[in-house]
Amino acid sequence: MKIAVLGNGTVGNGVLDIIEQQMKPACKDIEIAYLLIREGKPKTKPIMCDDINTILQDTSVDLVVEVMGGIEPAHTYILKALRMKKHVVSANKAVIAKYMKEFQECADENNVCFLYEASCGGGIPWLHNLFQAKRIDDIHEISGIFNGTTNYILDHMTKEQKQFDVILRRAQELGYAEKDPSADIDGIDIQNKLKISASIAFDSDIVQDFPTFGIRTIHKNDIAYFTSLHKCVKLMAVAKKQDDRYGAAVEPLLYDADAMESSISENFNLACLNGTTIGDCKFYGQGAGKLPTANAVVQDIIDILYQLPKPEISLSKNLRHDTSLVKGVYIVRTNNKECRQILEDFYDREERFQGYSYIWTKCISAYQMHQFIKQIMDKDAGAFMARIHEVTK
Ligand code: NDP
Ligand code: HSE
Repeated sequence: MKIAVLGNGTVGNGVLDIIEQQMKPACKDIEIAYLLIREGKPKTKPIMCDDINTILQDTSVDLVVEVMGGIEPAHTYILKALRMKKHVVSANKAVIAKYMKEFQECADENNVCFLYEASCGGGIPWLHNLFQAKRIDDIHEISGIFNGTTNYILDHMTKEQKQFDVILRRAQELGYAEKDPSADIDGIDIQNKLKISASIAFDSDIVQDFPTFGIRTIHKNDIAYFTSLHKCVKLMAVAKKQDDRYGAAVEPLLYDADAMESSISENFNLACLNGTTIGDCKFYGQGAGKLPTANAVVQDIIDILYQLPKPEISLSKNLRHDTSLVKGVYIVRTNNKECRQILEDFYDREERFQGYSYIWTKCISAYQMHQFIKQIMDKDAGAFMARIHEVTK
């Protein structure tokens, strides 16, 4: 099968490495005919091409791999490729979270496949297993550590007691971070992955933004305070479904030091589901990086090459966003003197640790707490908050 790879970056080169250097039989049947680069960039390999139309009009190309990132022109190129009856495999969660339904409908109309395993959980076969679980179960909840960059930062801030910026630079050098790392550290990348995963899990086109708070303002003192409470902080995605309602949030969560989530180190991810008969099921692996991500891309290509059954996807359920489904007790580090008044009845107590003030709330919905933290940050842009994870059984 002839394929074209759009994007000569980290993941694109990983795809080339796996297909060109590995001698497994499946990879031998895949030929990379084109590698799309930007116009004006030097063509250092014979397969390099800077005109998307050359690729789209070549009828011998059966499949296009989109690993350029961003919204445009990725959105346009994916649609054009599908309309030219080419299968599309993408790792680009930003564009998929936004246009998943449109891509799926276009692929169905043109009787081709649109697959995106690498978009959530990097090298973990997460979406594959989510589809598998859904063949039998209703999925009630999904959650996880869905961002390698932020997990790497939190892990190394804890291990090395270094500040945020130092470790972020290293995550960028290692190829984990997005081109603009704000997407990682502000939780947008996780929000995109949660939209894709929750849409699949709950059979609904979840495009609406939900409460999202990242780790941009975390301080090494916060980590020391959480450690003194025997807690470990992780940036988590959570989505729950009850009847015809769903709730979702992306925010730092505090886990007991011996919880499975606390043991996830480096750029590893953990993707969890809870289904009717299977109960809790967790998947662990490399969530970012050249070869693990390319592995997931190549797995999709092989599924299409071998004409394996397409995953059953329906985005037809009309679920209502219920802002009260995700809730808990939060700890807020702030020097905003009005914090207590802002929190009103949800204020519980204050603790001092190494000269910093940590405010504990009563149980509050994520939706309301995220409104409050915006008000708190109007006067203290460096404030941080995390919710205490509670085991619900
Ligand atoms: P990179 O920035 O390393 O690579 C993207 C490449 O695409 C760059 O070479 C870029 O060129 C090129 N490109 C962008 N726009 C165009 C265009 N219009 N025409 C031609 N080439 C273009 O990103 P990654 O490889 O890291 O990521 C690719 C995608 O995979 C993203 O959507 C990302 O979110 C996703 N992903 C990445 C993972 C990772 O670990 N890196 C893991 C999972 C998913 P230029 O450099 O000139 O901009
Ligand atoms: N920047 C992303 C991360 C890449 O760190 O998880 C994988 O999606």
